Amino acid sequence: MLTNKKIVLGITGGIAAYKAAELIRTLVKEGALVKVMMTKSAMEFITPLTMQTLSRNQVYTDMFVPADQYDMAHISLAEFADAFVIAPATANIIGKIASGIGDDLLSTTMMAQSKPTLICPAMNDKMLSNPIVQENINKLKKTGYVIMDSAEGELACKTAGKGRLPDIADIIEEIKTLLTPKDFKGARILITAGPTEEPLDPVRFITNLSSGKMGYALAVAAHRRGANITLISGPANLPLPAAEKIIKVRTAKEMHKAVMTHYRNADIIIKAAAVADYCPKTLAKEKIKKDKKALSLELEINPDIIADIGKNKGNRVLVGFAMETQNLLANARDKLKKKNMDLIVANNLQEEGAGFRTDTNVITIIDRTGECESFGKMTKIEAAGAILDRVKKIMSKKSNIKN
Ligand code: CTP
Repeated sequence: MLTNKKIVLGITGGIAAYKAAELIRTLVKEGALVKVMMTKSAMEFITPLTMQTLSRNQVYTDMFVPADQYDMAHISLAEFADAFVIAPATANIIGKIASGIGDDLLSTTMMAQSKPTLICPAMNDKMLSNPIVQENINKLKKTGYVIMDSAEGELACKTAGKGRLPDIADIIEEIKTLLTPKDFKGARILITAGPTEEPLDPVRFITNLSSGKMGYALAVAAHRRGANITLISGPANLPLPAAEKIIKVRTAKEMHKAVMTHYRNADIIIKAAAVADYCPKTLAKEKIKKDKKALSLELEINPDIIADIGKNKGNRVLVGFAMETQNLLANARDKLKKKNMDLIVANNLQEEGAGFRTDTNVITIIDRTGECESFGKMTKIEAAGAILDRVKKIMSKKSNIKN
C-alpha cells in the first residue's frame, strides 16, 4: 500500500537517529518515494550520506542554500509529501512545532505544511514525562498531529523506562494507517480469529491448523480504515494488532461466551475463527496414561457461535467464512442461509495460495442474493480489504455508517 506514496521524513538529533536508516530502507523496499530532512543535531548522530544512499534522493539539511540549488525546500517538500513523519522526534522539535517556531528547515517546513503528519517521540524517560513536553505533545494531538506512543525498555542513557523509538514495523504500520482514508470511522467491528483448543487432559488438546492470520489481517485493515475493533482471538502466535479491545480465549465455549457478551455493541461481526465443532466430553484431571491397546474419545458438539448470533442479529452485518475441501460454493451458500449471514467468504483449502498459515488467500465472497465475486491470489491484508469493501456496500444500504 506504500507503492509510490511520497513520504517526507524529518530526522532530529537523538540517539535513535540511527534507526531512521532502517525506517527509510523499509519504506523504500515497500515502494515509497522518500525524501529526508535532517536537523543539525541529527547530523551529529548519523550522516546525510547514509540517508541519501538509502532514500536515493538528495537530503535536505539547510534553510539557506546557494541560489542555483534554491527550490524553496520548505514549500516544495510540503507540496511533494503525501505524509510527513518525524522519527525520532526530540523534545526540542516537539516544543518548536507546538510553539510555532521555525528556526531551521524542518521546523519551518512543519509550519508551511498541512499534510497528515506522524511524530514519533524518542528521548530519555524523564524528558518525556516532563510536564512541559507532555503539554506540547497534547497540544500537537489536539491540532491534528498523530503522535505515536514511545516504547518502553532500556534507554541509551542506561536507564529503563518509556522513551524508546517504537519498532520500525510499528512505525510503518502507523504510516499506513495515516495514509488510509477513514471510511469505517465510527463503525464498531467485532472480529474473531485463530483456532480454538479443546483440552483432553492437562497436556493434550484437539485443535486445527488455523494460524489466526486472516482474522488478524482483518483487524489491521479495519483499524487502518478507522474502525473501532474488538478482537476475540483463540491461541495465535502473532503480533497483536491495534484494537480497542483484545480478548484472548482458548476453547470454543470460551469464544462463544466472549462473543455473546460483546456482539451487541458491534455494527459488524466477522467470524474468521476456525472454531472446533466438537470438544472432548470429559476433561481428564490427570494426564491420560498409555495403559490400553486402543483409546476412544467421546466428543460432544460445541455451540455454533455464528448461528447463535444469526438468530438475533438485528441490523448488524454478519460475515462468516467457509473453508472447504469440496463443493466450495454450494457448501458456502448453504452455510450463509442456515446461519443467517449477510456475507460468506469461501476458500478452498486445496487451492494454491489459499488456506491456513499462508500470508495469501484465494477467496470468493457470496452475499444473500447469491451474487458471488471471486478474487485471484492476494495477500491476506488485501483479502481483508476486499471483504471490508463488500461490508461497506451492505452498511451503506443499511445506512448505519456515514460515508
Ligand atoms: N463457526 C462458529 N461456531 C462453530 C463452528 C463454526 O461460529 N462452532 C463459524 C466459523 O467461524 C465460520 C462459519 O461458522 O465463520 C463456518 O465454519 P465452518 O467450520 O466452515 O462450518 P461448520 O458450520 O462448522 O460446518 P462444517 O464443519 O461441517 O463444514
